[in-house]
Amino acid sequence: MSELYIGLMSGTSTDGVDGILADLANQDIHVLADASMPLPDSLRQELLALNSAGDNELARAALAANGLVDCYATITEQLLRTSGVAAGSVRAIGAHGQTVRHAPQAGYTVQINAPARLAERTGIAVVADFRSRDVAAGGQGAPLVPAFHAARFGQATGRVILNLGGIANLTILEAPVRGFDTGPANMLMDAWAQRHLGQPYDDKGAWAAQGRCDTELLRHLSAEPWLALPPPKSTGRDLFSIDWLDARLHAWPVSVSPTDVQATLLQLSVTTITEAIAAHAGAVREVVACGGGALNPVLMQALAQILPCRLTTTADYGVPVLTVEALAFAWLAHAHLHGQAACWPAVTGARHPSIAGCLYPA
Ligand SMILES: Nc1ncnc2c1ncn2[C@@H]1O[C@H](COP(=O)(O)OP(=O)(O)O)[C@@H](O)[C@H]1O
Ligand SMILES: [Mg+2]
Repeated sequence: MSELYIGLMSGTSTDGVDGILADLANQDIHVLADASMPLPDSLRQELLALNSAGDNELARAALAANGLVDCYATITEQLLRTSGVAAGSVRAIGAHGQTVRHAPQAGYTVQINAPARLAERTGIAVVADFRSRDVAAGGQGAPLVPAFHAARFGQATGRVILNLGGIANLTILEAPVRGFDTGPANMLMDAWAQRHLGQPYDDKGAWAAQGRCDTELLRHLSAEPWLALPPPKSTGRDLFSIDWLDARLHAWPVSVSPTDVQATLLQLSVTTITEAIAAHAGAVREVVACGGGALNPVLMQALAQILPCRLTTTADYGVPVLTVEALAFAWLAHAHLHGQAACWPAVTGARHPSIAGCLYPA
């Protein structure tokens, strides 16, 4: 008997929506289709704007949620069409929504989403709001993917799964499984490339490769207190925004060329990731990367140079790097329907495990 789920993810990079249709019966994970689409520019701008306080936010957030879910519905239709699967055969969609605020220490996290509209448009049950129960239990509500990583890539394998999205987060596959955000992966580099190249990201890291890391500036940026906090911890655009970078560059007395800043930002991602692994993981045999940053060979080479073990990607294990998070949300929807707790105290710091998400029936 097959058990079909769809996972939909739009991450902090605000680059687009990634979707996957998978059969999750019998502990197996079998992918039937994947699809991605960039966010329409006006929606992207509005979602980015909603990350900070602004006029008439409630109505704007509701409308942006509808716009996002229309992209989710488009991806869903595409997944069904390419796989030849009928909507009625899919048990549920796991739809993350778009994080616009993440302040677990203040007791809240906000994902813009319209799950009822998605259920209405697709005729498929939707599981959404994956983070708030864990936050209510005193946890970070993040990262959500470690339970899935453990299921797909092995419980106690000495592997570290490294997701290079806007933010970098890692899962340490030891006993007990742990996971946390380490700081920026692509977010600062993306913002800097947008400003100086007019491009959403530095394709293949070619621009960063032309610069030289400024070690003094790197030390200055690395002094951010959040980076020294012990896990469990999570972060997002609330902290590592272009404003964060501008404030630090403003306080820096020496002029550094934009190209060298880009090279320094790349190295900031690399050192914060590798230092977090050295400090918190035991004997690591392998780091398995995923997320869009795994498509940046300059970032990957810089990581490989410092890591004391081999660096692979999830593609080496049959999961394309851009589909891992979407697959995680299909898996989380499955976990929800099976009453399986996917938020773990060792990961999020919550008082107890919890079942992630809330169900909107078809
Ligand atoms: N060809 C590429 N070269 C360099 N960076 C890339 C490339 N493709 C994707 N990326 C990076 O990956 C990011 C998207 O990664 P993704 O895993 O979707 O992150 P998120 O979960 O935050 O949305 C882009 O914003 C970009 O920084
Ligand atoms: Mg993305």
